[in-house]
Amino acid sequence: MMDYMTMTADSPPTRSTAIKLYDESGFAGMRRAGRLAAEILDALVPHVVPGVTTGELDDVVRRMSIDGGGVPATMGYRGYQHSCCTSINNVICHGIPGDRKLLEGDIVNIDVTPLVDGWHGDSSRMYIAGEAPIKARRLVEVTYECLMLGIEQAKPGNHLGDIGHAIQKHAEKHRYGVVRDFCGHGLGRVFHDSPEVVHVGTPGSGPELKPGMFFTIEPMINIGKPGVRMMEDGWTAVTRDRTLSAQFEHSIGITETGCEIFTASPKGLHCPPYG
Ligand code: MF3
Ligand code: CO
Ligand code: CO
Repeated sequence: MMDYMTMTADSPPTRSTAIKLYDESGFAGMRRAGRLAAEILDALVPHVVPGVTTGELDDVVRRMSIDGGGVPATMGYRGYQHSCCTSINNVICHGIPGDRKLLEGDIVNIDVTPLVDGWHGDSSRMYIAGEAPIKARRLVEVTYECLMLGIEQAKPGNHLGDIGHAIQKHAEKHRYGVVRDFCGHGLGRVFHDSPEVVHVGTPGSGPELKPGMFFTIEPMINIGKPGVRMMEDGWTAVTRDRTLSAQFEHSIGITETGCEIFTASPKGLHCPPYG
């Protein structure tokens, strides 16, 4: 049994196991936070080139978050010190920005979470430094398709399992592995809230989707097997079999008829190549 709780503008921002259902004031807050996330990801495009360091990209994200009236929610989150995550090649997620220079053909996920007026916009995209081999480009493209096929299932009356199923079916058709160890999540005034959004599943299983639910969908897809290995830094997750991994993430809200993508790109920069 899954229960739901109705949120209003003055409900407290606390984590809960119940799934929160937000009103129009929540949609307004998420629209602003999501838009800033998308603008940051748009603005990063010309910066993601061979020779740039992930630390320099982190500086761009921090400056843009603050200039846009927000603050990166990752700074100080469980001891994390950076403004975004930069996950290169075989890194699945939570890569830590630093001195690593991007090399020609690297694929990199940049994941940003600006906190604006108490609301979290959480989104990530893949970028390609220079030109990458077809094998890498194909993974990136199919991973984006997985995200959008999941989003197509995000409507009232469907269940979370319908989203996971659509993603898994598409990834496995291409013989890719869907990561199980990390999930999408509810969000709003809380960064990581209920429900857990698993990227595999059975149609009709899991909680029913209702208008006012806010959550992310963020499939991580590996060319090889789904297995994860954690690095000694306690954050960086890499593919156990060292194959390439890709990820895209949107924050969405369930509406009466489907869903609203809070983090859609204003410039139409959805998936590489960006121009
Ligand atoms: N943005 C990530 C997500 O999609 C979370 C990053 S938490 C961090 O949920 F601490 F690693 F930055
Ligand atoms: Co997320
Ligand atoms: Co994220």
